[in-house]
Amino acid sequence: MKRKGHFPEGVTLESELHRVMDFLASTGVDYPPGYCEMLIRKYKKHHVQYPRILMRMGEPRIRKHGRYPEIQEKKGSLLDYGCGTGDDIRALVHDGYPREKVVGYDVNWSSINMGFDLYLDRDTWMDRFVVSKKFPFPPSTFDVVYSGSVLHVLGTKRAVKIYVYNTYSVLKPTGTFFGSTLGFGKEHPRPAKKGWKLGGWRRRGLMLLSQEALHELLRETGFSDIEVYQESEADKLRLWFYARKS
Ligand SMILES: C[S@@+](CC[C@H](N)C(=O)[O-])C[C@H]1O[C@@H](n2cnc3c(N)ncnc32)[C@H](O)[C@@H]1O
Repeated sequence: MKRKGHFPEGVTLESELHRVMDFLASTGVDYPPGYCEMLIRKYKKHHVQYPRILMRMGEPRIRKHGRYPEIQEKKGSLLDYGCGTGDDIRALVHDGYPREKVVGYDVNWSSINMGFDLYLDRDTWMDRFVVSKKFPFPPSTFDVVYSGSVLHVLGTKRAVKIYVYNTYSVLKPTGTFFGSTLGFGKEHPRPAKKGWKLGGWRRRGLMLLSQEALHELLRETGFSDIEVYQESEADKLRLWFYARKS
């Protein structure tokens, strides 16, 4: 079933489309007259599945990861697993990564198409995206897998395990897995509120892992050199991670 997302209070589809389009126009994207109104009509009708993806467009989270400079340096083949709009792989390439080395994969076209609608670059970027309900890549295909805000939307522990297993399998030996997800840990523990279920932390269909649970899952899947940590005050419920395939 398609999840229907909501914008937080004070934010609307209109405000976010205007914000993102103003930003992208300032980087050189040339929108035809009436384009913003047309997109507002389109996304009012079809709704935005993950409103927060739209809200962070133009500020790709991959750049905030502590290992980003190292990944940029190595320039291995890279899979963005659950790529959404493709903001992160566009940022990588903008920052110097070879375009032919990146692949954005998702289970549906909805956010990828929203990325095309906003960047107006379908012709030049279409070949970098793969969409399939089933994980389509053979083992040992990529040097790096990036995962941005995907683990917490997978819904079940089993789905998270399969995702991490697929990542391990698709990496070449010594390959790198890095990214972030919503979660809680020692520095910023789970808030003591009613309504959180035991065994995980659920809110509006999101499942938040604990720092320990994510570390353990990576370890038992076979990863080594594992780091799972919390960082900023501004983004307390976020776990950043890094691991290598043994
Ligand atoms: C919250 S969005 C994050 C998108 C993007 N990575 C970002 O940081 O903006 C989660 C994405 O994961 C995708 N997704 C959900 N389940 C998936 C799965 N089993 N395999 C791959 N992608 C999945 C969704 O379609 C969606 O694009």
